[in-house]
Amino acid sequence: MAFDSYHCSVCGRRIKIQSRTDMPVLDPNTGFGICKSCIKNIYHFIEDEEGNKTYRGRKSFKNNLGDLLAKNKPHIIKKYLDEFIIMQERAKKILSVAAYNHYKRMKYDVDNHGVADEIDKSNVIIIGPTGCGKTAMLSHLSKLLDIPFAVTDASSLTEAGFVGADVEVAVRNLYYAAGMDVAKTEHGIIYLDEFDKIARKSGANNSITADPGHEGVQQGLLKMLEGSVVEFTERGQRKHPEAPTIKVDTKNILFICGGAFVGIEKIIEKRIKKGEAAIGFGSEVPSKEDANKKFNELIHQVRPEDLMKYGIIPEIIGRLPVICTLETLDEDALLRILTEPKNAPVKQYEKLLAMDNVKLEFEEAALRSVAKKAIERKTGARSLKGIIEDVMLDVMFEIPKSDEPRKIVITEACINGEEQPKILPLDEVNLTKESA
Ligand SMILES: Nc1ncnc2c1ncn2[C@@H]1O[C@H](COP(=O)(O)OP(=O)(O)O)[C@@H](O)[C@H]1O
Ligand SMILES: [Mg+2]
Repeated sequence: MAFDSYHCSVCGRRIKIQSRTDMPVLDPNTGFGICKSCIKNIYHFIEDEEGNKTYRGRKSFKNNLGDLLAKNKPHIIKKYLDEFIIMQERAKKILSVAAYNHYKRMKYDVDNHGVADEIDKSNVIIIGPTGCGKTAMLSHLSKLLDIPFAVTDASSLTEAGFVGADVEVAVRNLYYAAGMDVAKTEHGIIYLDEFDKIARKSGANNSITADPGHEGVQQGLLKMLEGSVVEFTERGQRKHPEAPTIKVDTKNILFICGGAFVGIEKIIEKRIKKGEAAIGFGSEVPSKEDANKKFNELIHQVRPEDLMKYGIIPEIIGRLPVICTLETLDEDALLRILTEPKNAPVKQYEKLLAMDNVKLEFEEAALRSVAKKAIERKTGARSLKGIIEDVMLDVMFEIPKSDEPRKIVITEACINGEEQPKILPLDEVNLTKESA
């Protein structure tokens, strides 16, 4: 060690080096050093600035709330969702109103100086089978509203003190989706997926064994849903007393808890039958074909008590006043999903191949076959794209080898793996005819 003291290059004080912490920044060659107290000052200055930025961000969002509301009335939101989501009319309506009310409540809070408690939050519970459009609907909603949106798998969360992710992770995910902007985070949407997986095991749908873990997660989530300041550390940082934390107020975050809630229709049916037994509600068993129809009828009749039976604690249900239910998609719905939405798989492939000068056509029977296959896989619309992708892989590899205008027709046999899609030449005559 060449020095036993140095002059702080910022404040100029002479600093005696007695321990390592006396020289946090010190170049032994030049003698350039910054003392501990100057570093602390700089750190606090940056923190305050960041805080101001958050404050300014909050203010500007509040000023824009009127605009946001005027531009996004429920019927406008619904119309936008219609461009992407097939069926699910009721769910789209419920979600449009919930989102609108959520921002109206925030405006009321701003206009009346922090009395948001007078209007309940419209947190949503969303119930529907796999691949019926839950995540897609929310993601489109957040795009329209231009607010951050993050999905967190609720089943990955654990009670504080257990190995795994604490409930704060949901807010942290939103914080990153918001580009690490606290003000933006504070009015975003958190989607807790697989929410049914944290149902109490002692719910009617499960065995009687006690299940403190899941109940603990629900308790942890409850605080966030109620609106509290959540503290978390940056990603990759371990929680320890000195790690800098980020504080986010969840008061205005819209929470949406969703899941398939497999078997909930049985709970609903049981309740309805009990009530209507006296007037002879049928005990007839529906045919297998009617099962979907029956599910779709039952699911919309879900009530808070059914969710309680399923194993969600009453306090949480109380904080999720909006219940949004989605239907099972049948073959016809899947067929429409393939072609109708703005981002329909068929439209996407058409656009991709057009960039390579190739015209893509699907025969009607081919599309129906894709829908049939998806039904077999029992994952709703989720597998549609994958089924087409499998069929298209080889041609998508071959096509870019040439710039010639060409055409591909996907037939039913292609989908069923009985023949390869053929790349055909497209002559000038055809091209002009088609563009006319
Ligand atoms: N009703 C629907 N209309 C249009 N596309 C849908 C619909 N349901 C599902 N999809 C499509 O299927 C895929 C999976 O849907 P997703 O929303 O993730 O299902 P989940 O309900 O399990 O969250 C997405 O690519 C989505 O675009
Ligand atoms: Mg999903």
